[in-house]
Amino acid sequence: MTDAVIQLNNLNKSFNHSSGSNHVLKDINLKVNSGEMVAIVGQSGSGKSTLLSILGLLELADKGSYELCNQNTRELSEFQLSQLRNQHIGWVFQNFNLIADMTVVENLTAPLRFNKKVKPSEYSQLIHDVLSKVDLTDKKDFFPDELSGGQQQRVAIARALICKPDILLCDEPTGNLDSENSQKIMDLLCELNKEGRTVLIITHDERVALCCQRAYKMSDGILCAVHNQEFKRVV
Ligand SMILES: Nc1ncnc2c1ncn2[C@@H]1O[C@H](COP(=O)(O)OP(=O)(O)OP(=O)(O)O)[C@@H](O)[C@H]1O
Ligand SMILES: [Mg+2]
Repeated sequence: MTDAVIQLNNLNKSFNHSSGSNHVLKDINLKVNSGEMVAIVGQSGSGKSTLLSILGLLELADKGSYELCNQNTRELSEFQLSQLRNQHIGWVFQNFNLIADMTVVENLTAPLRFNKKVKPSEYSQLIHDVLSKVDLTDKKDFFPDELSGGQQQRVAIARALICKPDILLCDEPTGNLDSENSQKIMDLLCELNKEGRTVLIITHDERVALCCQRAYKMSDGILCAVHNQEFKRVV
């Protein structure tokens, strides 16, 4: 056993299309320890979201290994992968991805229904706890379009937290927010990290990257660590 919650060795991913194959991730090596907060920066199309999809077990790599919490993901069935995903991973996206015709409470209930470990009698306490965490208990019966962008992202973070994941994967979490709301979201993600959660954040915003302890840069499918002295210059 190691402290690594995420360990990739020589991971590769290509997408095939009519005019050939697109080699999107090239021999990626990455180790993230429990409780770290790590940024991934890089140009549009360089492969950041593809990498995050593999880390979140939404996509599978073609070659190389991925160990999530000391489990080799290649050996697992679809069912075991979905269990591992539900147990460990919470997602936060740029465009919030809330379900428009469901209230905040209904959006938060949806992932609980897939979690066989939680009894329906426990739902309301869990929902109250995550809404308190993001300071939105007064909005529980609102629909997403009745909330500001920053509030919607806080609901999305509450939804990411509801099944108590130990890893948060965030794809441009502040990409659609103004600087004040971005700061609120980063304060929240930093607080969640201080409580022990591992946080990975894809970002184009240097202020967001500078909140993280370490950064990687993706360039045309190749992932390189950004060293401390280069950190400010690169992000
Ligand atoms: N499902 C898919 N099928 C085919 N090609 C894909 C798929 N997903 C991503 N790609 C391709 O992989 C490459 C990397 O895409 P990706 O979304 O990972 O980039 P990104 O770094 O997240 O970019 P951005 O900053 O714009 O979000 C792109 O060329 C894209 O067209
Ligand atoms: Mg992307």
